[in-house]
Amino acid sequence: MKGSILVLGHGAREHAITETLHRSGEKPRLHAYMKANNPGIAGLCETTCLGNYDDLSKIVSYARSREVEFAVIGPEDPLNMGVVDALAEAGIPSFGPLRDLARLETSKSFTRDLLTKYGIPGNPSYGVFTDLKEIPAFLDGLAGIVVKPDGLTGGKGVMVQGDHFETKGEALDLCAAILREHPSVTVEERLEGEEFSLQCLCNGKTVVPTPPVQDHKRRFVGDRGPNTGGMGSYSCEDHSLPFLGPRDLEEALEITRRVAEAIHRETGRYYKGVMYGGFIATVEGVRLLEYNARFGDPEAMNILPLMETDFVAVCRAVVAGGLEDLRVSFARKATVCKYIVPKGYGLPADHPDASSTAAPIEVGDVGAARLYYASVDRRPDGLYMSTSRAIGVVGIGEDLEEAERIAEAAVSAVRGPVDHRPDIGTAALIARRVQHMNSLRRK
Ligand code: GLY
Repeated sequence: MKGSILVLGHGAREHAITETLHRSGEKPRLHAYMKANNPGIAGLCETTCLGNYDDLSKIVSYARSREVEFAVIGPEDPLNMGVVDALAEAGIPSFGPLRDLARLETSKSFTRDLLTKYGIPGNPSYGVFTDLKEIPAFLDGLAGIVVKPDGLTGGKGVMVQGDHFETKGEALDLCAAILREHPSVTVEERLEGEEFSLQCLCNGKTVVPTPPVQDHKRRFVGDRGPNTGGMGSYSCEDHSLPFLGPRDLEEALEITRRVAEAIHRETGRYYKGVMYGGFIATVEGVRLLEYNARFGDPEAMNILPLMETDFVAVCRAVVAGGLEDLRVSFARKATVCKYIVPKGYGLPADHPDASSTAAPIEVGDVGAARLYYASVDRRPDGLYMSTSRAIGVVGIGEDLEEAERIAEAAVSAVRGPVDHRPDIGTAALIARRVQHMNSLRRK
């Protein structure tokens, strides 16, 4: 039924997706299938259904019962489980790729080999290995090493020399551990530069960029501590990023366009959904770190609130065609997203702050900021955190200074054993990124 839409997912990214659909002039009837009861999503939907993402028959029968026109898939896990294929068999199209095409995210080796086969620039030196004995010779030719499992790792599986390990021996030990759990391991040259996310909308033929965003993976201020799912992110009013060179965005977009075309040639199917490229600007140009087959979390919270084009029309143009004729525009504003997390987030289970992960929190007035619930559970006696990120707050302003001020002020409205990174979006941290890139360019 036209205007009946299913959103799959329960995090802050899906809260932002649901909110953006909700402000459509079409006044769609929204339905959410979630693993946990996200109060932000539930408050915007006509109905909700709780269940696991591997229960494909439950998802399909819920979608059927709501007579949905299409489904919007938030996280990668259900894509990997084939939810888009299952819905398609029931005649329901999805904003999200078929399982075979979601390999763009779920198999690092598939993507690297696709770029190689179709002569698309952007790959570093890399090798895909199933046999540990072949790895030492390849490591000898690399100045710096990155090790990636072939499979989903929640954004935390990439191991970088200098950050996660030091020696070639340690790299080999990691490869051995990965090969015990995954079919192959990808070993790559470590690249020096600044990372950025370019999320593109794609209907298989047309690729439309959204403003670039920079995420912050490390848990603590100053980019210290373990990698996380992302502690916060920013985007700029000029729809570029301060450290990018004049051709960097064009190169990243061109790589994505060519990859969309290559996927079609390789599989005979059209990729529908988001191609979210994790890129790195280096002195030699842009290189691809990885693709994700969905919106980024937190990056979705930077760009979706800025979308001026009706998101229901955008999704329809992706699933049913017409993206080439749609002008998808974004407000020329800056955004800063800060994730509020349990104090123990990302820390070992025996750390004194670990118990904070199940604690209740209270949310006061966030002022001008947008608030997106992530991994929280609304129970009769209050709002509880889990082991994951709890709430994303987003400041939107004429420039980064204003956006950062709004986001930082909102953080104090959340009371409980929580933490965040006050440095995200600040002039000092962004100046460091620019200096880093300038110092590489001077070398
Ligand atoms: N921003 C990291 C991710 O969405 O995987």
